[in-house]
Amino acid sequence: MSDQTRLPLDKREDYRQRALAHLWVHTRQWNELAEQDGLKVFVDGSGARLVDAEGNSYIDALSGLWVVNVGHGRREIAAAAYEQMKQLVYVNTFAHASLPPIDLATKLAELTPGSLSKVFFVNSGSEAVETALKMAKQYHYLAGQQKRYKVIARRHSYHGTTLGALSVNGSRAVYRPYFEPLVPGAIHVPNVNCYRCDYGLSPANCDVLCAKMVEQTIQFEGPDTVAALIAEPISTAAGTHIPPRDYWKILRDICDRYGVLLVADEVINGFGRTGKWFGSQHFGLVPDIMTLAKGLSSGYLPIAATVARKEVAERFKGGRKEAFAHGITFGGHPAAAAAALKNIEIIESEQLVENSAEMGAYLLNSLEALRGHEIVGDVRGLGLMCALELVKDKKTKERFAESDDIGARLTRSLSKRGLLTRAGEIVQLAPPLCVVRQDIDEIVRIVDESLAELESELLVRPPK
Ligand SMILES: Cc1ncc(COP(=O)(O)O)c(C=O)c1O
Repeated sequence: MSDQTRLPLDKREDYRQRALAHLWVHTRQWNELAEQDGLKVFVDGSGARLVDAEGNSYIDALSGLWVVNVGHGRREIAAAAYEQMKQLVYVNTFAHASLPPIDLATKLAELTPGSLSKVFFVNSGSEAVETALKMAKQYHYLAGQQKRYKVIARRHSYHGTTLGALSVNGSRAVYRPYFEPLVPGAIHVPNVNCYRCDYGLSPANCDVLCAKMVEQTIQFEGPDTVAALIAEPISTAAGTHIPPRDYWKILRDICDRYGVLLVADEVINGFGRTGKWFGSQHFGLVPDIMTLAKGLSSGYLPIAATVARKEVAERFKGGRKEAFAHGITFGGHPAAAAAALKNIEIIESEQLVENSAEMGAYLLNSLEALRGHEIVGDVRGLGLMCALELVKDKKTKERFAESDDIGARLTRSLSKRGLLTRAGEIVQLAPPLCVVRQDIDEIVRIVDESLAELESELLVRPPK
């Protein structure tokens, strides 16, 4: 951290005041942000580290929002975008193409499993999900199955914030009631959760009921009304539960049996986050449609994509009426595509997928030691996508009350020690894929200390 990066006190305060007056920080409340330490303003980043305007350094243990897979400060990505902007900044995406999106689509066809090979570019994960759902509906419509409009999603899932994506979300985290009525046809089934199974079963005797029951749901709804099933291969929003071995095979078979398109939301799982290029690959899953965002460009510029299997894309061939009725001005922006191509080149040349698998195993193994804490109920993860689940009582798995405010307390405690992440009942740990052992050791040490602090505050015992 150089003195040039640190802002002088008066400038810092000026920025803070203008942020509070004019910048609408997503999902956060003004008064929280106005509190001392409520709003952090960052000015610099390198690798897995961020520096705020006061000059404090932090380890970015959430890669922003599971975004910055190659780490901060990659000048070669900035240079690739700059060169493209100098050469050609934009062409009509409803009619023409430019070189970077063609190269990127070709690369994605090569990296994604099976016959996934036709790429529709958009700008965000939510748009990729909207695109997938509309694609599934028009796909069935074109086959004369106009009644297929329902989408099966899982409880506690998150697929985005725009209305279509919000409608399939299985969580109340982005409050639904304000925006109801939502897009009709979303059906929610239980998610994977081997720690708190919805059916009260344990992995040894569950027979993967959470997957098998989806068949009953389709039968009940009427197979000729169901367009798609959407799910993350490993759901982060639901608490990073790793599905049982056969889970995805069962769901793939059910979808095939009833002609339901399977959409794998790889917005977080993709680009090495789980220790393989895509989360689907841990389970031998080839989805019909895959959504990609975040790690596609590591956030250097906004870009996302919906990738269809060849067989799905072919349905849209024909005349004007068959063309996919969907378009977005900035989809496949040349500079964003150039940034994404360079990002993928870095992931390949630095073997970051392999590093994610190796460092992820090291992180998970190190986190196991934290089970000794009275409030750590479970430790889970795959690749650099790990989570701790905190409980008030380990034996009964009783949850903390909202009034315990563990999220805010733990977040403060971690940040005071130089670690940024999302912490609450679930503590997410997903640093950039370029981390080394020392970074992981630092993450685990800080989490360990913060948990001890939280425990001593929460579990005040009467003197013996
Ligand atoms: C699995 C998943 N899908 C979709 C989205 C929406 O992405 P975006 O915020 O880029 O719209 C997210 C965002 O976190 C996500 O986690």
